[in-house]
Amino acid sequence: MHPQNPVDLSPFNTLALPGKAAAYQKITSPEQLAAPDLAKKNRFILGGGSNLVLTGDFDGLVLHMAIPGKRLVKEDAEAVYIESGAGENWHDFVQWTLQQGWPGLENLSLIPGTVGAAPIQNIGAYGLEVGECFHSLTAWDFEKQAFFPVDRSDCRFAYRDSIFKQEGWHLNGRMAITSVIFRLPKIWTPNSRYAELSNELAARDIAAPTPQDIASAIIAIRQRKLPDPAIIPNTGSFFHNPLVDQAQADALLAKFPALPRYPQPDGRVKLAAGWLIEQAGWKGKYLGPVGMYEKQALVLVNRGGATGADVQRTMAAVQADVKAKFAVDLTPEPIFL
Ligand code: EPU
Repeated sequence: MHPQNPVDLSPFNTLALPGKAAAYQKITSPEQLAAPDLAKKNRFILGGGSNLVLTGDFDGLVLHMAIPGKRLVKEDAEAVYIESGAGENWHDFVQWTLQQGWPGLENLSLIPGTVGAAPIQNIGAYGLEVGECFHSLTAWDFEKQAFFPVDRSDCRFAYRDSIFKQEGWHLNGRMAITSVIFRLPKIWTPNSRYAELSNELAARDIAAPTPQDIASAIIAIRQRKLPDPAIIPNTGSFFHNPLVDQAQADALLAKFPALPRYPQPDGRVKLAAGWLIEQAGWKGKYLGPVGMYEKQALVLVNRGGATGADVQRTMAAVQADVKAKFAVDLTPEPIFL
């Protein structure tokens, strides 16, 4: 199989932005990555395209990771170890683990994207980050032309961050994740500390939730406030929740008593970007085809026909207004190509 060229990438990014790749190839097995014509330098590794802003045409090779497969690798007294190909759909994988009787990932139900992309930005929601269940992964190194393993201790997982976002790793196409192994403890306890989740369970009269109860509560919460990218193109939260120091958080609280704030173990305070954006007047506001969603101001949406430039224009306007009102910098979550 050889790369095709050129290929329209609009079906492959959930913001539905236009842009062509000079060359494109779907990767359905790890061995395909060793093909000599893929070793060319300018590569982009594409997963589900749910964390991507296409700024225009890409004069390089897009490798679309579609490696399938999910299996139990091993089990010991404490845990099961489950492997998934990088191209499996994340949500389908989570539901499959639950059906098999291996809970642990249910809080991450309905997050768009692929399994291979999940560790890169350490996807997280409703009180769980994927790094907490991650065991190891295998990746292909295009320069060394070899597979290599990566253990959890090498990953430097942090809030929406990992080693894979650093220079020299995934983002410049140096390597591609081919499979991921998760470690799911056999003793399961519900993770329902997140207020919105515990409220949803209480509203459903569920005092002792099963993993399926948690999954279905989370699916309902997400469907209520996050737009389905298949209907309203978006990339989920568009900005990180900003981390500020205690002094800045105190100063903001004095001025804005309703400010939501989440103290972190390192002494910093996480603020709610959605709240800041709403207070800055951007909830449901649009600049041309791109605006911030009516039901969740942290989600940037394309209401039809937007380009990467339209996204950048709205992004810059939101950042400027939040900065002017709160002196807080908002950093985008997605990758720009
Ligand atoms: N808020 C507003 N207005 C809004 C949106 C939010 O005032 O328009 C307030 C809420 O009332 C709440 C606070 O902001 O007090 C936090 O909102 P929410 O619980 O909805 O969570 P979030 O901080 O906006 C984060 C993640 C989501 C994840 C949820 C649940 C980030 C950047 N986002 O959102 O992740 O699903 O928590 O855990 O950390 C994603 O990354 O794509 C994503 C959807």
